Amino acid sequence: MCPCCSGSENINDLDNFFDEKYQFRAANKYLQNGLDKESQRLIGWVADRLDGSQTIMEIGCGAGMIHHDLLRRGKVAHAVGIDVSTAGIKVATQNAEKFQLSEKIDYHKVDFAQNADQFQSADFVVMDRVICCYPFLDLLLGQAAEKTGKYLAISFPVENFLSKLAIRTCGTCLRWFGQTFHPFLHGHANIRSTAEAAGLRLAHQDRHFIWSMMVFERLLT
Ligand SMILES: C[S@@+](CC[C@H](N)C(=O)[O-])C[C@H]1O[C@@H](n2cnc3c(N)ncnc32)[C@H](O)[C@@H]1O
Repeated sequence: MCPCCSGSENINDLDNFFDEKYQFRAANKYLQNGLDKESQRLIGWVADRLDGSQTIMEIGCGAGMIHHDLLRRGKVAHAVGIDVSTAGIKVATQNAEKFQLSEKIDYHKVDFAQNADQFQSADFVVMDRVICCYPFLDLLLGQAAEKTGKYLAISFPVENFLSKLAIRTCGTCLRWFGQTFHPFLHGHANIRSTAEAAGLRLAHQDRHFIWSMMVFERLLT
C-alpha cells in the first residue's frame, strides 16, 4: 500500500520509534565525540568539494548532526533539516541554538516522501541511515534525487546474506516487543537506478562495517 492510500503521515511508526530517548542519545554522542565514523565517511568526499557557499538539505536529519557539523566547519552556508520525528526536530533545534546556528537552518517536521513538493532544491542532499527506515524507496529516494542540485549522499545497510538475516531477525524481535516499526533492506541495484533515473551519476562509494555509502553527482548538461 502506498502512503497516499494508507492516509498516514506516520508511516512505519517513525514518529514514535525515533523518540526523545533515541534522539538525545544520538545528539549527546555527537556533543561528546563529534560525528561518528559512518557519517564522516558519508560526507567526507563531498565536504572536500564544498567552498562554504552551498546549501544542504538533510532528510531524516534526526538530531541534526551532519548539517550542524558542516555549518560549524563553514562548509555550507544554509541548511534545511527535515524529519518526521517530532523528537528529532526538537533536539536538532535545541542544538542549533546551542551552536548559534539557528539563523542558518530551517526545520520541517514532515514526511519528506509525502511532502517533497514544498521544498526547493539544495546543492547537497544527504540521507544518513534513512532509507532503511522507509518502505517506499522510489518515493523517498526518487524525490530526494530530484531535489539534488549537485551532490546526493546516502547510507544504507550492506546487502548480503547476513544483513538480510539480521534485518529479518530485527523486524521479528521488534514485533515481539510490540513495535510496529521495522527496518527495510532495499536492493543496492534498485537504489542506484532510482538515483540515476533522476539524472545523477554514481561518483563515489564507500563502506564502514554494516553501512554502505553511495555519493551521486548531477551531470551538468
Ligand atoms: C536511523 S535514524 C537516522 C538519523 C540521522 N540521520 C543519523 O544518521 O543519526 C532515521 C531518521 O530518519 C527519519 N525518517 C525516515 N524516513 C523519513 C521520511 N520519509 N521523512 C522524514 N524523515 C524520515 C526518522 O524519523 C529518523 O529520525
